[in-house]
Amino acid sequence: MEWRRDIIKLLFIGDIVGSTGRKAVRESLPRLKSKYNPHIIIANGENAASGRGITEKIAKEFFDQGIHGLTMGNHTWDNKEIFDFIDREPRMVRPANFPPGTPGIGHTVIKGNGKELAVVNLMGRTFLPAIDDPFRAADDIIAELSKKHKCIMVDFHAEATSEKIAMGWYLDGRASFVVGTHTHVQSNDDIILPQGTAYLTDSGMVGSREGVLGMERSAVIRKFTTQLPVRFQVCEGKWHFHAVFVEIDEATGKAKKIEKIRMLEDEWFME
Ligand SMILES: [Fe+2]
Ligand SMILES: [Fe+2]
Repeated sequence: MEWRRDIIKLLFIGDIVGSTGRKAVRESLPRLKSKYNPHIIIANGENAASGRGITEKIAKEFFDQGIHGLTMGNHTWDNKEIFDFIDREPRMVRPANFPPGTPGIGHTVIKGNGKELAVVNLMGRTFLPAIDDPFRAADDIIAELSKKHKCIMVDFHAEATSEKIAMGWYLDGRASFVVGTHTHVQSNDDIILPQGTAYLTDSGMVGSREGVLGMERSAVIRKFTTQLPVRFQVCEGKWHFHAVFVEIDEATGKAKKIEKIRMLEDEWFME
């Protein structure tokens, strides 16, 4: 397949949850690569290790499968192994509006198949820990990145749809692609905004479709019905896989196409 020289094809994979999510990635990625032929693949890895955080081994497994960069979120620090490698892994970003001095980086430049994409991770603060203003953080980072880069994507890891939609509009024309993560449920509002920013409120998760947001359902139901402390575990069973594909004009940084992806194990249903 030929790549148009002036377009960046980007595949973004939503929150990969535990071993079931990792299995879904192993089984889906070859098929997606042949269908979309992406130059660059980015995934959210905040739930990759047993639903909580990520380890170096798992990050390496993703990179070995052709994922070029990883974003994180509110679960960044849940697996302590991250502290052993985050400061020497330039392909992984955690929310840029974490407190100053926090390990890791909040933005990076990812290279793949001759293309370059600046990747920014931000976290919302509605129904999430009160951290620094993600809008102001976006202003500063994008002003800096845009001196050198036309093509910029933002993974806005946030709970409230309003905060995410506001960020999409706020960055319209300044970022090529603003995508939400964290809710684990794919939204149906993919659009290219008037100034050329591709936007989707949530890319959705990758993991078991037999649980609650990827976790074993009986424990979650027990939590809701008893309010007692409960230990959550990753759900096994059949997976669902959610992602989003974007094409960006390399010369202008404007998005040309956005397409949601949803695949179900055993059904190979693809919208
Ligand atoms: Fe998540
Ligand atoms: Fe999250």
